[in-house]
Amino acid sequence: MPESRETQDTQTSETVEELKLAAVAALDSAESEEQLEIWRVDFMGRKGRLTGLLRGLGGLEIDERKIVGAAANRLRGELEVLFEGRVSQSRSTQTPVGSIDITLPGRKPSLGGLHPSTQVVREITQAFNEMGFQTVEGPEVELEKYNFDMLNIPASHPARDMFDTFWVDSDTHDDILLRTHTSPMQARVMESNDPPIRVVVPGKCYRYESTDATHEWQFNQIEGLAVDEGITFADLKGTLYEFARRIFGPSQKVRFRCDYFPFVEPGVDMSIEWKGDWLEIMGAGMVHPKVLENAGYDSTKYTGFAFGMGPERISMLRNEIADIRHFFANDLRFLTQF
Ligand code: PHE
Repeated sequence: MPESRETQDTQTSETVEELKLAAVAALDSAESEEQLEIWRVDFMGRKGRLTGLLRGLGGLEIDERKIVGAAANRLRGELEVLFEGRVSQSRSTQTPVGSIDITLPGRKPSLGGLHPSTQVVREITQAFNEMGFQTVEGPEVELEKYNFDMLNIPASHPARDMFDTFWVDSDTHDDILLRTHTSPMQARVMESNDPPIRVVVPGKCYRYESTDATHEWQFNQIEGLAVDEGITFADLKGTLYEFARRIFGPSQKVRFRCDYFPFVEPGVDMSIEWKGDWLEIMGAGMVHPKVLENAGYDSTKYTGFAFGMGPERISMLRNEIADIRHFFANDLRFLTQF
């Protein structure tokens, strides 16, 4: 359209322009599909304002009619595009009946965390890892041979009474049980590795006994085993002192007393000083020569030490947990405190 004509027809073009401004403003403020429909009838309908404007063209001069007619048709196209845009926008934000209301504020997702047993097991195994012990794991369903026999606990031995056992009761497999301690891994590790050996073995154990605040029928243990030429009781004490320092702090006092376990000789228990009392946290000792021989080691050449502790008990001390049964009760009020 030539510049001069436009200037010349300012009067009528403005009417198209005015209609455009009014139509766009009205479209902007239409908030629902009903209001959009009212808008469509008002501006674009058969009796609407745009049609009215086009009808009025008849009274214009031929040149003017052409210009205004073209402008009005362009405006129709523009408004149709704008209108379709608003309609589809309104449809996409509308909530279909029966679906979720996406305008509601969201809820904070609750994040999971490591179980308190896992946390303390990892902390203890890491302390030993830093001292050169490798972490290995073993089966929770174990053979009687590893759980008892190879550990110098023969069938007739009264020490079997120390371990109340869950047997996997089947006619064909009467030698299968849920391990009562992690010590069977001493035998398994020695059987399939040559010395030197330094391992820690975390894992679940099971005992057929009634529960109370300090006893559960399922619990974790962490076993330790070091075998090499020339290992002495001083190595046992030094290693366990260092463990106590790392887990309980640099000034932690510990105490060793004689204790009996068939797979160690001499055997001890280790206690830590806690609020003016001595609390037993693990059994330990020098690996019994018979256990070394059972695994095929020359007990005149190799010596070693072993220990076994209950990580839940250690967590109970440090976190002032009064009852061990909280660990496996699966109560979020307890679990989320860690
Ligand atoms: N296995 C023993 C128990 O469960 C603990 C222990 C491990 C003692 C290693 C000595 C050496 O009571």
